[in-house]
Amino acid sequence: MSEIAAEPAGAMVIFGITGDLARKMTFRSLYRLEVDGQLNCPVIGVAMDKWSDEQLRSAARAALDAAGETVQKKAFDRLAGRLSYVQGDFADPSTYQRLADRLKGCHRPLFYLEIPPSLFAPVVTALGHANLTAGATVMIEKPFGHDLYSARALNASLHEVLAEDQILRIDHFLGKQPVLDIHFLRFANALLEPVWNRDHVAAVQVTMAEDFGVEDRGAFYDRVGALRDVVQNHLLQVLALIAMEAPVGPGHRALWDKKVDVFRAIPDIDPVRCVLGQYEGYSKVAGVKEGSTTETYVALRLGIDNWRWAGVPFYLRAGKALAARATEVRVIFKRPPRLAFLEEPTHPAPNQLVLRIDPDPGLRIVLLSKGRDGAATRDVHLDLAFAAELGQPPQPYERLIHDALSGDHSLFTREDAVEETWRILEPLVDYLDHAPTPVPYPQGSWGPSSAGDLCRGHPPWQQPWLPIQQTETIKGEKGDGNK
Ligand code: BG6
Repeated sequence: MSEIAAEPAGAMVIFGITGDLARKMTFRSLYRLEVDGQLNCPVIGVAMDKWSDEQLRSAARAALDAAGETVQKKAFDRLAGRLSYVQGDFADPSTYQRLADRLKGCHRPLFYLEIPPSLFAPVVTALGHANLTAGATVMIEKPFGHDLYSARALNASLHEVLAEDQILRIDHFLGKQPVLDIHFLRFANALLEPVWNRDHVAAVQVTMAEDFGVEDRGAFYDRVGALRDVVQNHLLQVLALIAMEAPVGPGHRALWDKKVDVFRAIPDIDPVRCVLGQYEGYSKVAGVKEGSTTETYVALRLGIDNWRWAGVPFYLRAGKALAARATEVRVIFKRPPRLAFLEEPTHPAPNQLVLRIDPDPGLRIVLLSKGRDGAATRDVHLDLAFAAELGQPPQPYERLIHDALSGDHSLFTREDAVEETWRILEPLVDYLDHAPTPVPYPQGSWGPSSAGDLCRGHPPWQQPWLPIQQTETIKGEKGDGNK
């Protein structure tokens, strides 16, 4: 399949359309694409439940209402007209025969697998047996494997039927506007790129803090934990965009080559450079095993052994039930020399650049200026709120489905990148599988204070840049973000 002249999909087939993801994300994304005139093919749902076409349409409508979407009748009617349903067991070849009948004359179907990971390979194999994969693409939800071995095994099974260019592995963080902006910010602005290296950067901190627990996903989460849930995928993808060199040409291959170079330059993690935590009360969550040792918090330090980054620590932390909701990248620059011209010469604090990914995406540059009383320096912030400046972007799933339908692969992860991320984390994954002892931390805190030790000799963890409402709520009561 040519990277440049990808044809749009002739139909979209959603396996598992009666599930949670469709209810929470997929119908809404399809509807928004319909409103924008960007959905142009039939959408066929496949699942076990005994639904009719009409029930599928009602479920779509109910999902939009539940999401608070203002539904325009004309657009919804158009979407409803595209929707149809094939009922069947994924293990039964006749399901695929009925699907093949429905797809007669369609040249480039997009299959979207919103199903448990154990079914990815069997469903793809069955599609192959039914001769449905020629010219098709297959979009796969996360998690892609649960360690290096299983990721390799899954890739090998998929490749028995599909070429790499036919596989779209979803990481919804890659569809978030501020994440998409990273390489534009870096490479379209001559101001940033010259200081984006080990000569000027002291440390990079990536934080994904959530102020809610695992809620009704206890049974799923307890088998997964924070490292596999969000670090192996979302946070390492963000790190690659922050650290990579500029792609040398258009198209997804040039972009992915540069991202994979970053992963290759990261040595395997040393489990000593990692702190695991579990929020108090986690073991009482429905679906969580008694005495569970699953981590709901992880903080770790990585290095990148290349000319641009050698010696600069990259910190990643992610946790549930923390003090606030904030996902950000923070680049902390080196400190300037002592300000000899002051009455009492001081060593100024470093400049920082913060890219807030969630909520309220924005960019902040922390500078120092003269304090009001003349003697000291103080922080000043240059803040850019993306929505105010650039308008509301599409939701990640809306963008990813759009790209999958139109044949743009840039925002989907590639085989070698997925395997490299598992390789980097493998020593820790191995440790997690042998009864680790996560440190308990209070709900509403910033996680185990021992995470601060990871930064010894380098800038400490910084309190994330919070939107004003959250700043007011947590002011003074919930710690300092592990400083
Ligand atoms: C998912 C994880 O991939 O990402 C969840 O499974 C997490 O545990 C979610 O809450 C966060 O995504 P977002 O887009 O809400 O920040």
